[in-house]
Amino acid sequence: MNHTPHQVAITGLTKRFGARLVLDNVSLAVDTGQTVALIGPSGAGKSTLLRCINGLNTFEAGEIRVGPHVLRPGHDHGGAPVRQVRRVFGMIFQDFQLFPHLTALENVIEAPVHVLGAGRHEAARRGRQLLQRVGLGDRAGAYPRELSGGQKQRVAIARALAMEPRGLLCDEITSSLDPELKCEVLAVLEDLRRDGLTLLLVTHEIGFARRAADRVIVLADGRVVEEGPPNEVLGNPQAARTQRFLSQLLM
Ligand SMILES: Nc1ncnc2c1ncn2[C@@H]1O[C@H](COP(=O)(O)OP(=O)(O)OP(=O)(O)O)[C@@H](O)[C@H]1O
Ligand SMILES: [Mg+2]
Repeated sequence: MNHTPHQVAITGLTKRFGARLVLDNVSLAVDTGQTVALIGPSGAGKSTLLRCINGLNTFEAGEIRVGPHVLRPGHDHGGAPVRQVRRVFGMIFQDFQLFPHLTALENVIEAPVHVLGAGRHEAARRGRQLLQRVGLGDRAGAYPRELSGGQKQRVAIARALAMEPRGLLCDEITSSLDPELKCEVLAVLEDLRRDGLTLLLVTHEIGFARRAADRVIVLADGRVVEEGPPNEVLGNPQAARTQRFLSQLLM
């Protein structure tokens, strides 16, 4: 694993879809090793923000720095900065996006073998370790259709970890899961946090954010409306928009 700092520093990020302004001059930072929960109402631009960091969306103005790598407006999806940023931060989605025709282990070793050129044997050895780490040591040969939602999401986490990222971008990765399965996945995230991974999580799990996040950022209508430590932002929100959002969550 490389140990260069990989602070995320976003300045003036502006993103439009057609005439719709989706991210409006967003600036924020995530320090190396921090866990940051990104919360806010539907349509706020949370997924778009993560997709911009990961190079899945382009943007019109501003800059995204990840350690020494810089994404600027109009960057090429397959260009060097995007590839470099993806090596630093893996991304995980709500719907897992596993390959259905591959076993858990094959899903995990696919990228190391095909992108990094790792040997199959060594990749499989390491893949088994990663499955063990997410509590699935005994399910390496299972196909996604044979796994529960929580197990699939843990395979997706192991797959992201197989690229040895310094951090993860997680977009509501527990939203489609039952409460018990949520707990399994959140426990894995807490474990990764303790191991020093940098985590930027879009989440509606306010309890988890309160317990595990170093900072909470509230995004609404494409803007950062409030940010700070969880006990302040979640316990004593100052912005009216945050108060309204949190009170709706509790209904
Ligand atoms: N590919 C697209 N084309 C056009 N508009 C889009 C596209 N993707 C997102 N949008 C719009 O951008 C806005 C922000 O969407 P985004 O998915 O980032 O919100 P979100 O905060 O993740 O919401 P949710 O909590 O519902 O997931 C929304 O108004 C959405 O309709
Ligand atoms: Mg979203």
